[in-house]
Amino acid sequence: MNGYRCIACAETQSADFTGFVCPSCGGNLEITYDYAAIIEEIERSGIDRARSIFTFSAFLPVQRPAERFPLRIGRTPLYPARRLGGSLGLRNLYLKDDTANPSASSKDRASAIVVRRAMDIGADVVSVASTGNAASSLACVAASVGLPAIVFVPETAPPPKLTQSLSYGATVLAVRGNYDDAFDLCLTASQEFGWFNRSTGYNPFTREGKKVCAFEIWESLDGRAPDRVLVPTGDGNLLSGMWKGWLDLQAVGLIDRLPKIDCVQSESSAAICNTVNALRASGRVDIDWAKVSIDAVSANTIADSIAVDRPRDGLAAVRAIIESGGEAITVPDDEILDAIAEMSRLSGVFPEPAAAAPWAALKRMVTAETVAPDELVVCLVSGSGLKDVAGARRAVPEPHEVEPSLEAVRAALKR
Ligand SMILES: Cc1ncc(COP(=O)(O)O)c(C=O)c1O
Ligand SMILES: [Zn+2]
Repeated sequence: MNGYRCIACAETQSADFTGFVCPSCGGNLEITYDYAAIIEEIERSGIDRARSIFTFSAFLPVQRPAERFPLRIGRTPLYPARRLGGSLGLRNLYLKDDTANPSASSKDRASAIVVRRAMDIGADVVSVASTGNAASSLACVAASVGLPAIVFVPETAPPPKLTQSLSYGATVLAVRGNYDDAFDLCLTASQEFGWFNRSTGYNPFTREGKKVCAFEIWESLDGRAPDRVLVPTGDGNLLSGMWKGWLDLQAVGLIDRLPKIDCVQSESSAAICNTVNALRASGRVDIDWAKVSIDAVSANTIADSIAVDRPRDGLAAVRAIIESGGEAITVPDDEILDAIAEMSRLSGVFPEPAAAAPWAALKRMVTAETVAPDELVVCLVSGSGLKDVAGARRAVPEPHEVEPSLEAVRAALKR
């Protein structure tokens, strides 16, 4: 790591900068690297293949990454999904199963790097605002190293996510308001009390954890890049992290072509897709990112993890979609619900609503012929179905209620 660059105005900061956002324009920062030094390190010692998120440590902005980290974060499976893909005529569909993370979502990737950073700088409390997953994830990772965590969630967050956070021993503030209210309150309180704020799209270190997902996909595909990766998107940090990972690999010569990064949002929480579509419709080519603004929406979707009015890493995501040539696809809630059951039935991977959205989007893309049958496609399964059992339950039929008799079983099988 050799500094920070503003995603909006491109102003740079040195590596010892301690702020979170651009001091000139308030834009989000991205962490920059000395790629020549990374190439040298890889040539000298090879790629370090730790069994956790702290693999490829030359690309990570933290010191002694794996030290004192008991949990295995990242290194999740990439499954070929032949029956699921085959149901749409897709011959090379893969699922990146991030439900296999300790707290059962992709968020653990970011929490690991942020908690490691907090330890590096001697922070004694970590905080976050979250729709639910980032809270349970930070609570989990902080508990694993004995760091106090304070989490802000909307009071409507699904009970499993709340229960996880409470079980891990975090201080849970259930905010009477939505995610955006929780975000603003966490920001003010963290500044007031000096907590290290992990909030997505504010803390530049989260993206660095999420990018490792791209490294893992690259490794699982024997050093290849897929044609496209579909990412469920709310704030846009998961998506911009995914893109950063492939850019890092390209910058050191490990890949010679980049995948398209497709953004999947709920129809009613589509601030990022709306902006991408408007920019594309305008036909502008040389976009001045400092002048791009993202209009807020009023989110209302069953996919609570991607219900966001004002995307906090929206600009980075819009840039990633446009620069990668990816699609911006929105899906309605009923298709998200269908996708939960279809993915589960045809692949054995059980997604929460947000994590099912990419499959719903892929179905639309096949119909629109924006994806070809032979493309190598990866859907990111970013959170487990157990995170929102009530959501999943809406997607499946009722069980057969039977008396404890063989006759009743026979009758049920005929129904
Ligand atoms: C399961 C799941 N999928 C996708 C996302 C979207 O990530 P982002 O808000 O960075 O776009 C989240 C964020 O909470 C999530 O929990
Ligand atoms: Zn700036």
